[in-house]
Amino acid sequence: MADTKSLDREYIVPTYKRYDVNIVRGSGALLYDETGKEYVDMGAGIATNSFGACDPVWVAAVEEQLGKIQHASNLYYTDPCAKLAELLCEKTGMKKVFFCNSGAEANECAIKTARKWAAENKGEEYFTVVTMKNSFHGRTLATLAATGQDVFHKDFLPVTPGFAYAEPEDIDGLRSVFEDQKCAAVLLETVQGEGGVRPLSTEYLKAVSALCEEYNVLLMIDEVQTGNGRCGYFCSYMEHAIEPDVVTTAKGLGGGLPVGAVLFSEKTAGVLTPGTHGSTFGGNPVCCAGAVSIVSRIDGDFLASVRAKSKKIFDTLSDKPGIKGVYGRGLLVGVEVEGEPAAFINKCIEKGVLVLGAKGRVRLAPPLNIPDELLDRALAVITKIAAGEEI
Ligand SMILES: Cc1ncc(COP(=O)(O)O)c(C=O)c1O
Repeated sequence: MADTKSLDREYIVPTYKRYDVNIVRGSGALLYDETGKEYVDMGAGIATNSFGACDPVWVAAVEEQLGKIQHASNLYYTDPCAKLAELLCEKTGMKKVFFCNSGAEANECAIKTARKWAAENKGEEYFTVVTMKNSFHGRTLATLAATGQDVFHKDFLPVTPGFAYAEPEDIDGLRSVFEDQKCAAVLLETVQGEGGVRPLSTEYLKAVSALCEEYNVLLMIDEVQTGNGRCGYFCSYMEHAIEPDVVTTAKGLGGGLPVGAVLFSEKTAGVLTPGTHGSTFGGNPVCCAGAVSIVSRIDGDFLASVRAKSKKIFDTLSDKPGIKGVYGRGLLVGVEVEGEPAAFINKCIEKGVLVLGAKGRVRLAPPLNIPDELLDRALAVITKIAAGEEI
């Protein structure tokens, strides 16, 4: 029988450049390939396995729900879906939730909400959603258009109309867009994750929030990568004390199962009405049961521990030989290394540490509960590789 790597290469369209690793199992922040080689997981399935691999509390919650009912459809009520919505509203102060299956779908829903809200409150011509240059919002046609990077648009023209782009940190530039175009909403990431882990400043985010107020434009925050404790706050925008009208999230929410959510403030809670949006699998009880077990554990103490682990990363890597800069928030960190990031990442993998890339930087996004000794082990490997030392 052909091995997994050959089957994959023969039968799966090559949209992903996979590393030469076949992950067969994991436990917490340790992953294993088919040869039994052990890796410290500094990627968490791209900021998704919030409590690591096969976290026992999460497994128990998912298994319990699997034994009850795996799917019921949105024609009926189900316990985990309602419970998760309540938890998300309690943690954020938002008022209502729509469930979907991915980050792109959450952003699609936000964009539809912006258009409907603006049509009803400002006029149908106010449909433009402003996003940031260097942003990433997904790969569906509308979220591709929302993504402010030409490289993602180029083979799929024409891009969906109704988007304008602003330079991050340039508030006058955003004001000009609001003056020149009829805008419904701004959609932004507080830390541009796929764009190289580039945080926006509190000053800028506060200014955007005030400008949205001034022009009656919705403020929509994409917390797909940054949310659910990843940046040391339940949602990353909370660090900046701004109050969005719409928040989208996915990735870490399900702890490794596909679930996305859109959170609505008082102002936007009434926009989507029966028949205006939907999703067959959205709010799936198994995914929501897993998500409840994740979200319910992200409390103040837990977030403080995320921030402490983040400090350890910054303290250990900053100003070290071969490391040009360390950026990010919480456990979403971008490391600028000397030389090619791709070669650096492969070297880390060879030495048993799985790290990610993000636009010219090495990205670290370990499970939020990674034990300190494993974090130390991974950071020692990263530091030595950066310094060109033998391991
Ligand atoms: C900020 C942000 N938004 C949206 C997405 C798209 O999410 P998904 O791949 O679940 O559709 C991503 C994925 O990396 C993301 O980082």
